[in-house]
Amino acid sequence: MITKSKDELIGKLTAAGFVFSQFRLVNEGDYETYDADWNYKDIPHLNILHKLVNGFPTSIEEHVITSVNLQKVMGVVLPMVVVNYHSGKNRQTYYTSFLSLLLIVETTWESIGEIRTRVVTTYAIGSKWYMKLLHPIVRRLITRNYENLMSEDIPMRSRRGELRKWGYGFRTDGPPHTFISTLHILDENMVTKVDLQPPPPIRLGLEELAKVAQEDILTTRSDHWGLRLSARDGQLLVFPRLCPHEGACLDRQEISTNSVRCPWHGRVLRPLASLPLPWPADSDPVDLRYHRLIPDGNGLGIEFKDTPLAARIDPNEQAADIDL
Ligand code: FES
Ligand SMILES: [Fe+2]
Repeated sequence: MITKSKDELIGKLTAAGFVFSQFRLVNEGDYETYDADWNYKDIPHLNILHKLVNGFPTSIEEHVITSVNLQKVMGVVLPMVVVNYHSGKNRQTYYTSFLSLLLIVETTWESIGEIRTRVVTTYAIGSKWYMKLLHPIVRRLITRNYENLMSEDIPMRSRRGELRKWGYGFRTDGPPHTFISTLHILDENMVTKVDLQPPPPIRLGLEELAKVAQEDILTTRSDHWGLRLSARDGQLLVFPRLCPHEGACLDRQEISTNSVRCPWHGRVLRPLASLPLPWPADSDPVDLRYHRLIPDGNGLGIEFKDTPLAARIDPNEQAADIDL
């Protein structure tokens, strides 16, 4: 594959009579370079997470994607043809044009410490010299759009950084992600990097459990052992707090038709278990992949299992349609 970096492209276009204005925007955060690489390659989050852009991919290869994006700028929808490709180690390049303006963008990322990464995005606005007066206006619009995109993207990266600090990693850490692999939202990509110890068993007494009528109960923390208990239609629904695909936290997701939809890629997660409310005092324990629920006459006991994280697809979970 032959790819051109931003600078190579600019060199050719400058020779053809174009002039460019360049500027850089930088983000540093508590995440790994892989999280930045993943975030920039990740196709499905675009239409689910980002409010101002709607992408319609036309061709997706391992390292290239072309799409028509509908981008909202100051309330106006601009159709943009975008070509986006992996252009070198820790680098991604994309370009688009609008009327007689060309925009070439290059994003690079580097590690600046343990779970700390710097991402630099360089924008090059190009046109014939007589359109150069427009460059500062375009720059202002791009900066505003960048801030908006980052306000939605950075929490994803930081969440993965948090999971890494807890000892998790991702099956796809290492080589650059491919665009196409990000479409498999039923994959379970979380792995453990260290020997994680399950939390000690907990017990929720009847008084504590009664509070679930007003507010969901969250147990332990939002890792693969964390549970969210919610009362619906005479049932106690038991949901995971962590999406096994890429690690999103599910705590704030609305429960609708007894399921939650992951905020990152739209995977639909059904309850891991449901118990009648109130349950009979002689109820049987419920064995789950990482938990054992022990309902009895005095409340609910929860034990946490040391089962390794698995990459299997759970056929009981539904994929949301990724409508490309
Ligand atoms: S993190 Fe991808 S669907 Fe949840
Ligand atoms: Fe994004």
